[in-house]
Order: sequence, then structure tokens, then C-alpha cells
Amino acid sequence: MNRRLLSLLSLLACLVAAAPAWSQAPAPDAGPYVPTPQSIVDAMLAMGKVGANDYVIDLGSGDGRIVRTAARRLGASGIGVDIDERLVKMANDEAAREGITQRARFVNADLWNFDTSKATVVTVYLLPSIMPRLKEKLLAELKPGTRIVVHDYPMPDWKHVDYQALREPLKVQAHGLDTAYLYLYVVPPKK
Ligand SMILES: C[S@@+](CC[C@H](N)C(=O)[O-])C[C@H]1O[C@@H](n2cnc3c(N)ncnc32)[C@H](O)[C@@H]1O
Repeated sequence: MNRRLLSLLSLLACLVAAAPAWSQAPAPDAGPYVPTPQSIVDAMLAMGKVGANDYVIDLGSGDGRIVRTAARRLGASGIGVDIDERLVKMANDEAAREGITQRARFVNADLWNFDTSKATVVTVYLLPSIMPRLKEKLLAELKPGTRIVVHDYPMPDWKHVDYQALREPLKVQAHGLDTAYLYLYVVPPKK
């Protein structure tokens, strides 16, 4: 093996070692489509103090109700990303019907490959099993001060700054309980 090839191989080894853990393992399924009831959408946006200056990213956006509500009722901008093309079309069609396509749009992509760095608020309603990996991704990408509002399944080993348990009968269909649990996290300053 010549010297050039050796140095190329050692560079590759360094890059792999330096890559964040979440980018190495195969992307896990983040969960099926279960829409957040509208009362809980409203509570999530209130908890995140979403306003007209915010850019909201919903990871796994379903029919787009979180970003659409943020745009329609609060004047925010944002984007939703979903792996299901059919849901992305539904969300964009609804946004068009509501006349908010300038501020709310939806893209068909895998959330693990989606750059979240532009967000001022991130919303999450995904499987508990992916939370450790999602936490690493968000801490690596988001600006300090970005709010993350999580529905039902908290981030492991991260102290939330706000918490609410809200009664909502529509939750029974989704997971047998009539309560939604909301957690607010704020990205800390970089070390
Ligand atoms: C529980 S639903 C939440 C929908 C919406 N955020 C809401 O709260 O109403 C989860 C969504 O994540 C999407 N999803 C699952 N894995 C994904 C992935 N790897 N990338 C993007 N979206 C994904 C599903 O298609 C589904 O629409």
C-alpha cells in the first residue's frame, strides 16, 4: 500500500470517528401517522410561545396541522417534513386552501437527513425509541435558545423547562389514555 493511499484511509477513519453517532447507525423508523388533536396543537404552540417572528419545524408533520396552525393563527413561518408523500401532498393542499403557502410548506424527506438549523421552534410527536438519537441530532444542529416542544415522549436525560398534562378525550384512540403530556426544552449555549 503506498503512502498516499494510507493517508487517505487514515483520513476516512478520522472522519468516521468524528461523525456524530446519530449519522452512523441506520435511520430508525420514527413512527406511524397519529395526528395531534387540535386542542393539543394549540397548547404545544402556546408552550413554545410561537409568534410571528418564529420559524417552526415539525419533524414528521402528518397533515401539517402544527405548522399550518402556527402560520394561520399566529403569523409564524415554518416547514413540515414527512416520509409519507401522501401526507405531504395533503398538508400542502390544505395550506393552499387556507391561503398560507407563503409561510407554511411541506416536504417529502427523511427527518434524519433534514437540516433543522433554521428553526426557532421544533415540534415533535414521534416514537419514544428514537428520542435518544433525535436529542443528539437536535443538540448538534439547533441554535442556542431554540425551543423544542415534545408531545407525549420526553427527551432522555434533558431537564425540561415546562411541562403540562392535558385532558383530551381524542387521545384515547391513540394510546388508551385521555391525557397528552407536553414537554418544553430550550437548547443550551454551546460549550
Ligand atoms: C405521530 S405522527 C405526528 C404527525 C404530526 N406531527 C402531528 O403531531 O399531528 C408521526 C409522523 O412522522 C412521520 N415519520 C415517521 N418516520 C419519519 C421519518 N423518518 N422522516 C420523516 N417523517 C417520518 C409519519 O409519516 C407520521 O406522519
